[in-house]
Amino acid sequence: MSSPGGKLFITGHNGLVGRALLRHYATQPQWQIITRSKAELDLRDPHATDAFFAAERPDYVILAAAKVGGIKASYTQPVDFLLDNLQIQNAVLSAAHRFDVKKLLFLGSTCIYPKNAEMPIREDSLLTGPMESTNEPYGVAKIAGIKLCQGYHHQHGRDFICGMPANLYGSFDNFDPEHSHVLPSLIRRFHEAKLHHTPSVTLWGSGTPTREFLFVDDLAAACAFLLENYSGSDIVNIGTGHEISIREAAEIIRGITGYTGEIRWDTTQPDGNPRRLLDVSRLEKLGWQAQTDFRTGVAQTYQWFLDNRATART
Ligand SMILES: NC(=O)c1ccc[n+]([C@@H]2O[C@H](COP(=O)([O-])OP(=O)(O)OC[C@H]3O[C@@H](n4cnc5c(N)ncnc54)[C@H](OP(=O)(O)O)[C@@H]3O)[C@@H](O)[C@H]2O)c1
Repeated sequence: MSSPGGKLFITGHNGLVGRALLRHYATQPQWQIITRSKAELDLRDPHATDAFFAAERPDYVILAAAKVGGIKASYTQPVDFLLDNLQIQNAVLSAAHRFDVKKLLFLGSTCIYPKNAEMPIREDSLLTGPMESTNEPYGVAKIAGIKLCQGYHHQHGRDFICGMPANLYGSFDNFDPEHSHVLPSLIRRFHEAKLHHTPSVTLWGSGTPTREFLFVDDLAAACAFLLENYSGSDIVNIGTGHEISIREAAEIIRGITGYTGEIRWDTTQPDGNPRRLLDVSRLEKLGWQAQTDFRTGVAQTYQWFLDNRATART
């Protein structure tokens, strides 16, 4: 299956994923890209969303608009994470159905999976056990989005597909200390420790848990690949298939930022899940693999951070 291109609505184009999608499609003139910021079109509003679809009639949609944040944010704003995401998904998916979108890609997250899922996490482990409680509002909304896509597929024959990306990092990430994910927060902390000649940086936990990190430009390539080569109601994990310990990731980031002080591990703080790794065999069988190794991705992300300190989300 391959698509000739068409009118593609990239939602959330100002975000980490949306910017990477814009970079990816910038070289592909067969796609006419449509975007709207949240200020221009609040996708929680079903009437405004319907009116936009009626006027623009996109052929394809990538749903990368969402209320996204770190553990602290989702823990302290459960209503926003649950309600915003449900409203965005409901409005966009129902408009896509009503206005005959040919294909839609919904982006979920690995936090939909049970906290004790067998590693690497297969897609069919969804709903086989409780998820991490701090992620519940976000995760429950994402599961509702998956079920809605699958429902449209079964009940109305819609080609609405779902991709579940691993932890992402890259240009335009959020480097805010309160709201960022682990990698941008490490980049920022080592960078600032270097600037201020801080003798040591203390990180939470033992550093032994492992995580999987996907460079966001690889995710954008995977989204385009799925849009053109996959139709099915089964969800698809999108990751590298490789894990790295937080300790090793921190050492690599320290080296790339040029910080020469000590890393201390505060083992009185919790470690979280010991492992988090996706089974990406379904995606690999379809014919896609991530291309960017961790060092290269972090080096590019740090360079972007240095070049964009003034405008980055810090
Ligand atoms: N970041 C990760 O590590 C990660 C991992 C797995 C999956 N994902 C998934 O990937 C998708 C994109 O994540 P991201 O990291 O790119 O998030 P992000 O950087 O926070 O960007 C989210 C975008 O959504 C838009 N948005 C939020 N609320 C909106 C609303 N009510 N109406 C219209 N637009 C709205 C924002 O638009 P404005 O900028 O105009 O306000 C923003 O550009 C999400 O579905 C997320 O669950 C992310």
